[in-house]
Amino acid sequence: MGEPDVMVVGQVARDLVLLVDEVPAASGTAPVRRRRELLGGKGANQAVGLAQLGVDAGLVGVVGDDEVGDRLLAQARADGVDVRAVLRRPGTPTGLIVDLVDAKGRWHYVEDVLAAAPLLRAARAVVVQLQQPLPAALAAARCARRAGRLVVLDGAPTDRAGAAELLVLADVLRADARETRLLTGAAPADAAGGLRAARELLGCGPSLVALAVDGVGNAFAWPDGDLFVPLSDTPTVDTTGAGDAFAAALTAGLLRGEPRERIARRAVAAAGATVGRPGGRPELTEATIAAQLARMPAG
Ligand SMILES: Nc1ncnc2c1ncn2[C@@H]1O[C@H](COP(=O)(O)OP(=O)(O)O)[C@@H](O)[C@H]1O
Ligand SMILES: [Mg+2]
Repeated sequence: MGEPDVMVVGQVARDLVLLVDEVPAASGTAPVRRRRELLGGKGANQAVGLAQLGVDAGLVGVVGDDEVGDRLLAQARADGVDVRAVLRRPGTPTGLIVDLVDAKGRWHYVEDVLAAAPLLRAARAVVVQLQQPLPAALAAARCARRAGRLVVLDGAPTDRAGAAELLVLADVLRADARETRLLTGAAPADAAGGLRAARELLGCGPSLVALAVDGVGNAFAWPDGDLFVPLSDTPTVDTTGAGDAFAAALTAGLLRGEPRERIARRAVAAAGATVGRPGGRPELTEATIAAQLARMPAG
């Protein structure tokens, strides 16, 4: 088994998708029309998206030693994701990874990341989301950076000092509007605002910044240029996982050395291919991406 080209450090969890006609008010009920349980969590979504795009991807994360954990790992393997660095934590139920995050859990996570250090160093790129504790994200980014790997950050930590520390380690920063507000103090309101925020964040370390502007599109900035890519006109069913698909496509394009505009447009297309479907699991193929590109305003 060769070493993966991209290691994704992040959550592995159950993604329970419930389709209801209308979301009930507090303490109300609603009949569930459809119930699906999928492999989810940001880490898994991004690794699966990368694999769907033909990138050799591996996952660093934690699941329990329960049956759900078995199922999730089997699904990830079937999706072509290398899971040898996913830790089975005894006595821990697999579920929402956030449930595992307590003061003790945090340091566990750092140890888990360090245990995967050889794979992080061997990869060409390491993708880190910021829904796991900051010390774990920092440990992964530092390890990858020292080895000269491409460090891709998706999201923003809530704490400002942590954000600054993490951004200097990053080559690529990708954030949605809420995360952009955590980083700059304001969510961009329009394309110009998005581009301004992206250029500002370049000053914090990354050499590529991609920011979502709600309902409008995504702003991309490099030290010597920028680009705004409007959204496709796909009706939104559920935006969950669209950012994960975006990050996966962005990373895949960068590793392939594709031209900037193509990378940017395909990342937005990958997000668009995910918003039309319930649940966070990406479904990235040349066909789904091409269909979105056709629905986006010409560049
Ligand atoms: N119709 C659409 N077409 C393309 N992209 C979309 C559309 N609607 C939303 N998006 C994009 O989806 C992404 C959602 O990101 P994010 O909030 O990080 O999702 P998650 O963290 O759930 O994966 C943003 O980049 C946003 O611009
Ligand atoms: Mg996101």
